[in-house]
Formats: sequence, structure tokens, C-alpha cells
Amino acid sequence: MNMWNERYAGEEYHFGTEPSGFLVANCDLLKPGMHCLALADGEGRNGVWLAEQGVKVHSVDSSSVAVEKAKRLAAKRGVKLEVELADLADWDFGFEKYDAVVAVFIQFASPDLREKMFKKIRNCLKSGGLLLLHGYTPRQLEYRTGGPSQLENLYTEAMLREAFSDMEIISLHEYDQEISEGSGHSGMSALIDLAAKKV
Ligand SMILES: C[S@@+](CC[C@H](N)C(=O)[O-])C[C@H]1O[C@@H](n2cnc3c(N)ncnc32)[C@H](O)[C@@H]1O
Repeated sequence: MNMWNERYAGEEYHFGTEPSGFLVANCDLLKPGMHCLALADGEGRNGVWLAEQGVKVHSVDSSSVAVEKAKRLAAKRGVKLEVELADLADWDFGFEKYDAVVAVFIQFASPDLREKMFKKIRNCLKSGGLLLLHGYTPRQLEYRTGGPSQLENLYTEAMLREAFSDMEIISLHEYDQEISEGSGHSGMSALIDLAAKKV
């Protein structure tokens, strides 16, 4: 059984139903009518919030339980969300299709898969399109308040600057902050935020 299906089982939303603070902090970069791909969107807390901002959201995740919960959350909040069950390892992201890609805690990806996904992210964005990427840095392995245990899946500023060197970096920074996102992410956390534009 999909490990994420087990985590998402039950009525509780594992990461809560409020959006990531990272997205809220970057809301000025989002415009109503934008077509946005929400990668590994889980139970939809971020996709639903984006839809509430007037963004047209395509929410993709490989957990069937998560996808059903995302649909229920969208219905409850009265917004439209295009939800798709897919494994991002072999999913077609499309070409120059989206105005924005939102990738919040997609660190299930090992370095090989990450490289492929980052390439697909760049390709699927339209020229001028926005990437919002949020995750953990290696210091998170000391906090252990959420996220993967594989060091190689975590991000550093240098890694992201290199990976997205062909994009315009709007902002990129590492910081420590207490977060409270359901039972999944709770406590002091070592985080990294990237906002970048395809040129
Ligand atoms: C840490 S959760 C983050 C969920 C959501 N972005 C959020 O912040 O609430 C990671 C998500 O990645 C999804 N996932 C893991 N492997 C995946 C894959 N190969 N393709 C698509 N989604 C995947 C899981 O189902 C899970 O929902």
C-alpha cells in the first residue's frame, strides 16, 4: 500500500487545511486567472488556498486517499480544483503550459528524480512563469519535526541556485522557524524558500 495513503487515512488532514506560510508570504506574486500546477499537492491545503486566490489550479498527487480528500476540501470551501492522481516520476508535465508551479515539500524525490522533475518544471512553465518551491534544509535532520530522513533529498541554497541558474531568482533563503501544519509538520524547522521566474 502507498505509504502516503496510510498517513492520510482517517478524517484528520495530516498537514492541516491551512496553506503553507511560504505561499501566503508570496501571495503578491500570484495573480487571479493564473494557471498553476500544484505538485504533490497532497490533501489539497495549498491547492485549495490557491484556488481561493482566483488561481486556476491543477493539483497532482500519487496518493489516492489524498486526492479524494483534496476534492472534499475543495467542495467544502466552494472552489474548483482540477485534481489528478499520478506518479510524478513518469507524468507528463506538458510544455510551456503553466503560469506558475507550486512545489511545497516535494522532497520524496531522490537526487535522480529531483533532477528530472526540476527539468520538467522549467519546461512546463510559460516564459515569465513563476516557480514557488519550499522545503527543508539538511539541518532539519537535527530537528526531526517533519520531512524525509534522507540527507540527499534535502535542499541547500547553493543547490537550488545551481539547479535554477537559467531562471531569474526572485528570492532564495534558508531560515529556521517554528511551524504548525497538522501532525505532519510541527515544531522548529529548518526551511528553504525559492521564488524564481522563467526567463
Ligand atoms: C510531505 S507531503 C506534502 C503534501 C503537500 N504538498 C503539502 O504541503 O501539504 C508529500 C506528498 O508527495 C506525494 N508523493 C510522494 N511521491 C510521489 C510521486 N512519486 N508522485 C506524486 N506525488 C508523490 C505524497 O503523496 C504526499 O502527498
